[in-house]
Amino acid sequence: MAIIRSMITRSYSSIRSLRVCVIGSGPAGFYTAEKMLKAHEDAQVDIIDRLPTPFGLVRSGVAPDHPETKIVTNQFTRVARNERCSFFGNVTLGSSISLSELCQMYHVVVLAYGAESDRNLGIPGEDLRGVHSAREFVWWYNGHPDFCHLAPDLKSTDTAVVLGQGNVALDVARVLLKQPAELATTDIASHALAALKESSIRKVYLVGRRGPVQAACTAKELREILALKDLYVNIKQDDLQITAADEEEMKNNRIRKRVFDLLTKASSSSQTRPTSGQPELHFTFFWKPEKFLESNDKTGHVGCVNFEKTTLKGSAGSGSQIAVGTGQYEDLKCGLVLKSIGYKSIPVDGLPFDHSKGVVPNIKGRVLSSSDINLTEDGLYVCGWLKRGPTGIVATNLYDAEETVASISEDLTKKDPTPEFASGREGLLQLLENRKIQAVTFSDWGKIDSEEKRLGSLIGKPREKLTNWNDLLAIASK
Ligand SMILES: Cc1cc2nc3c(=O)[nH]c(=O)nc-3n(C[C@H](O)[C@H](O)[C@H](O)COP(=O)(O)OP(=O)(O)OC[C@H]3O[C@@H](n4cnc5c(N)ncnc54)[C@H](O)[C@@H]3O)c2cc1C
Ligand SMILES: NC(=O)c1ccc[n+]([C@@H]2O[C@H](COP(=O)([O-])OP(=O)(O)OC[C@H]3O[C@@H](n4cnc5c(N)ncnc54)[C@H](OP(=O)(O)O)[C@@H]3O)[C@@H](O)[C@H]2O)c1
Repeated sequence: MAIIRSMITRSYSSIRSLRVCVIGSGPAGFYTAEKMLKAHEDAQVDIIDRLPTPFGLVRSGVAPDHPETKIVTNQFTRVARNERCSFFGNVTLGSSISLSELCQMYHVVVLAYGAESDRNLGIPGEDLRGVHSAREFVWWYNGHPDFCHLAPDLKSTDTAVVLGQGNVALDVARVLLKQPAELATTDIASHALAALKESSIRKVYLVGRRGPVQAACTAKELREILALKDLYVNIKQDDLQITAADEEEMKNNRIRKRVFDLLTKASSSSQTRPTSGQPELHFTFFWKPEKFLESNDKTGHVGCVNFEKTTLKGSAGSGSQIAVGTGQYEDLKCGLVLKSIGYKSIPVDGLPFDHSKGVVPNIKGRVLSSSDINLTEDGLYVCGWLKRGPTGIVATNLYDAEETVASISEDLTKKDPTPEFASGREGLLQLLENRKIQAVTFSDWGKIDSEEKRLGSLIGKPREKLTNWNDLLAIASK
């Protein structure tokens, strides 16, 4: 609290600065903050996040065996340490503070709080035990404090079904099939490592409702999973028969062509059958899930997925080819299902929201008014997955932040150069103090970071993540 008090006193001297609040400290939030600080010398930028830890999906999404992707946090750390920037973790838009309160306190509010829910299939049995979203499973192995207790059952089955064939699907399949010893030197959460060491899952089915030309993953990630030690890969030759529309699709999209070529090569070079105990990866195409069926042995638990065979309709020229059912059905026995069919953003009170697309409606980052779509909300902007939907890699958010910051800058040129008084950081800190909310500053995060690295160094890991709220907040307040 003492640090926060001194911050309140110090920042009263800069009352006439441009007060900016960025909500969410993932890539979109940090790139926005960086670009705002660069473009506006008078800007004071506060980043708030509901977690006590920064960096969004770079910490809680990116796979533990992809440490090179996490290097970007060094750049984000430099932004947070800029003297005109502050980070306040453990502050949730919607419960700690409302959007209207923030809009009153700041000249500019940028929403960059990502996509923290899931698309649903809406089919029977989706709530059976053993059916999880990939988001939950990823948060579990990455030590997100909301999902440290997920405890997926990896012991009473040898088969997992992953629905969807994007890069997240490949991540979760790889984590299930990789030798745990290879994960032991990563920052994977210790509860997940322990469960994976005891896992009996040996077969993973990666199921797509469309064909190999439409698989949503990228070549680098596909190559990586295909190269797993001692892996048996199964891709049916029949599924690799392509149509003129597929040819057209590949001509227009080099990534699709590379992915298809890799799948074709993997199919022709794989063994005819697996050896006993060998890990197996089955790419299954043209199957759409119809229902999840209960296990005969475990009440309330998934035991099988029922699929309908599909065929593709439409031409590549007229948009994408879509999967339509053929009326033929097949069952696939399994004890774990991970739905990896995409993330979804959650609206907060008072925020215009497009429920069908799951995004905040905007033009180049300017939030459109809910009462009149020809108007934009004054001072309110959006960036990242909340703006575009849940697609794109870390770097995509950099270009996205550039667009949003360009809109902010353009709008500011039309306003009075001396901004009206806004309480900004002092107002925020006062409100949090009144509500007895423990804001975690960037230097508090430094304590968590050091402790995690110290714990990790004892067991040969880059860090041992603290995975529950109480531990995180206790270390932060030391
Ligand atoms: C499983 C997975 C793995 C990925 N792996 C890679 C990879 O290897 N390489 C790559 O380039 N890209 C990868 N990506 C994509 C990349 O992570 C995203 O493009 C990027 O993180 C999106 O940034 P964002 O800032 O919009 O959202 P996020 O990163 O999700 O950040 C949103 C932030 O907002 C906070 N927040 C949420 N709600 C609130 C609230 N109400 N109040 C305050 N704060 C809130 C969250 O805690 C979070 O910190 C991966 C994505 C996933 C899902
Ligand atoms: N290493 C990396 O760089 C990395 C790692 C992870 C994630 N990411 C990025 O993060 C973003 C999100 O990845 P993601 O895998 O969650 O999403 P994604 O790439 O959009 O893939 C979603 C998958 O779900 C399928 N799907 C959607 N709705 C479905 C339904 N109702 N029934 C059956 N299948 C359905 C899609 O098939 P259809 O095509 O048929 O709709 C697709 O195969 C992507 O841009 C990805 O590249 C990057």
